[in-house]
Amino acid sequence: MVICISATINNNIVAGQNDTIHIPIVTANVALVIRISSTRDASVIYLGKRLQNDADYASIPINNGNNDYTGLLSSAYTPSGTRNLLEPAIQVIHADGNPSLDLKYVRHQQNTTNQPNGVLLTTIYLEDPVYPFQVNLNYKAYYDDNVIEQWTSIKHSETGVVRLEKYSSANLYFASAHSYYLTHFHGDWAQEMKPEQVQLTAGIKVLDTKLGTRADLFQAPSFLLSLNQPINHDDEDQGEILSGTLAWSGNYQLQFEIDPLHNLRLLAGINPYASEYSLVAEQEFITPSFLFTYSFSGLGTASRNWHRWARKYRIPQGENNRLTLLNNWEATYFDFNETILTSLMRDGKRLGVDLFLLDDGWFGNKYPRNNDQAGLGDWQENIKKLPHGIDYLTNTAEGIGIKFGIWLEPEMVNPKSELYENHLDWVIKVPNRPEYYFRNQLVLDLSNLAVQDFVYNTVDSMFTKHPMVAYVKWDCNSVIYNAYSTSNPHQSHLYIDYVRGLYNILNRLRNKYPTIPMMLCSGGGGRVDYGALQYFTEFWPSDNTDGLERVFIQWSYSFFFPAIASCNHVTTSGEQTLKFRTDVAMMGKLGYDLVVSQLDTDELLFSQQALQIYTRLKDTIWHGDLFRCVSPYRLGSDIASLIYVNENQDHAVWFTYLINNRYRAGSSRPIRLKGLDPTKNYRLQEINIYPGTDNSTIINVNKLSGDYLMMFGFDPMVHSQRTSVIIEFQLTNGVKTLTCFLNNISRYFLIVFYVLIFS
Ligand code: DGJ
Repeated sequence: MVICISATINNNIVAGQNDTIHIPIVTANVALVIRISSTRDASVIYLGKRLQNDADYASIPINNGNNDYTGLLSSAYTPSGTRNLLEPAIQVIHADGNPSLDLKYVRHQQNTTNQPNGVLLTTIYLEDPVYPFQVNLNYKAYYDDNVIEQWTSIKHSETGVVRLEKYSSANLYFASAHSYYLTHFHGDWAQEMKPEQVQLTAGIKVLDTKLGTRADLFQAPSFLLSLNQPINHDDEDQGEILSGTLAWSGNYQLQFEIDPLHNLRLLAGINPYASEYSLVAEQEFITPSFLFTYSFSGLGTASRNWHRWARKYRIPQGENNRLTLLNNWEATYFDFNETILTSLMRDGKRLGVDLFLLDDGWFGNKYPRNNDQAGLGDWQENIKKLPHGIDYLTNTAEGIGIKFGIWLEPEMVNPKSELYENHLDWVIKVPNRPEYYFRNQLVLDLSNLAVQDFVYNTVDSMFTKHPMVAYVKWDCNSVIYNAYSTSNPHQSHLYIDYVRGLYNILNRLRNKYPTIPMMLCSGGGGRVDYGALQYFTEFWPSDNTDGLERVFIQWSYSFFFPAIASCNHVTTSGEQTLKFRTDVAMMGKLGYDLVVSQLDTDELLFSQQALQIYTRLKDTIWHGDLFRCVSPYRLGSDIASLIYVNENQDHAVWFTYLINNRYRAGSSRPIRLKGLDPTKNYRLQEINIYPGTDNSTIINVNKLSGDYLMMFGFDPMVHSQRTSVIIEFQLTNGVKTLTCFLNNISRYFLIVFYVLIFS
């Protein structure tokens, strides 16, 4: 269902007592309601399930009738320096040095003009009653997907420069719960997205990063907030959850403050750390977007809201296709030449992937890129490795019948490079101190327009000079140390201008190349956010490609990001079988990063068949709905299990993995499926079976109803001999026949065998 509201002004006002105005920002199920008081203060009076009658919002008592001394605790955008006592959303120093701000409602506007169908934009205009200083609060409600996007624009017409000390994107208020549980995701290289849940207590909990680039290395800008009860990984269908994320690829700050009334204030935005911003008159400072979805039926609904929204509105080509690929990084690292690459491309073709991706190490001559210590920034083919250049490779690929893609890390430079020698002024480094490196490299100053042009041209010329380049992997391996720009007149603008510079470049590239697939990579998942994902078709979750680790890492990303965007590559990393690793990689955008010629006959056959099967499954995995059935994060869980169901509910793909290798660990009982049509009958067939597997354990069941499968469930028989199982669901119309129901007998024998051995 979509709403139809034509471009109107003040059409959604709900009159309240004492000349108050209520502005409901609504989606199908969610309402965020801003009250304008008789003193023209804007407060969040409601955030939760949408009420049936908008007029009811007017009855909500502010702060449950409690006095907060200031009238500002629930402010929709808390100013500072006047009567505020808690964490502000905005802090400014006016041109005349006055450090105070008050914000009063002027007007608001709600419209659908220039918005896609089903999207309603609300803008609330606020102004300081004393200074010519304006703040506009913008809320975009994505009706069907229950996602709300919020950002702020700040402007003034004072004589002189106003210093912005803090400039949040969003300031929300929760007054309806007795307790709040925050799940955030932290980690490091190869350990991305480890969830941790804490109950919020009085005071402030801050999630932030100050890394500049590769900003999410230690902490992701995405979180889950559960009201009244902790998130229960046993049950994804229960609970009131706000799932939020900041669409910004640089320093961010998320603050969760339990106030003296035991309510929760949420402030989200760019990290003000070392980032005071000087704003000249009439210039507009636009914050990045804070995005959230709100679910009253648990984490599962929240994730599906994100997935649908991201595919429809955010990720380029989100509703279209992706390319399977063979990457050479883990196959060769820096050690390759034309002959090796040609044979890898042939292998890719033999395997059956769409594209060959040439990774790091192909460039640099004065300082050849033979390891990670040199060459970064010198984007010319290394003549020893590639004497005939990139065109030779793209032509070879074309002859073989495979597409060609290439790795770039255009924001970075090695000190051992011609770029560094010729353009030291383009490098972020502080004067009078020794350089300090992250992976032997430094970051280019994207706040400098000349550097933006250089980066843009690096990528653009890759496409113009080599039109057959069909894919780019854009890496970003370094954080910013010693932040300093030689060209930016305001050092404290650098962190912000850097990200804006990056987005400028990506915008220019996307305008020229709207459909080219690009992978967002940052030494693994150091930059996975919906700011960058406006420009990238997919992201690299982690350099950790161990199959078991990936179950957890991909699981965490799936709370926020759709499977179509998750690049999952089969490598030789880890102890698991090739089948396990392949099954795990199939839960997103399948790729490979191994030496195909080193696969034995069965391994090659299995992989070739897996790619063919994937062709049949990918539409459901990429564009269907995800239902997580058994979480690997559940205490004592032996398995992880999830299912993708297509929109018509006539096709589904169910993945189950053994994640515990203790004695007799396994699925052991039916798993209740989700997302199926209870009235439809399904045929369940186990797929992606390794050659030579004992046929007696293979599942092939004709006609089980969605109702049965969701209420009683089905045991995929995952155990130490079957560590991963994929079952495909298709509609069946025939009479109920079990052609070959689970071979419980073989399982029985296995158990008896164990008991005999160990007793
Ligand atoms: C880090 C990436 O995450 C890897 O996949 C690979 O591209 C290397 N960089 C190359 O240096």
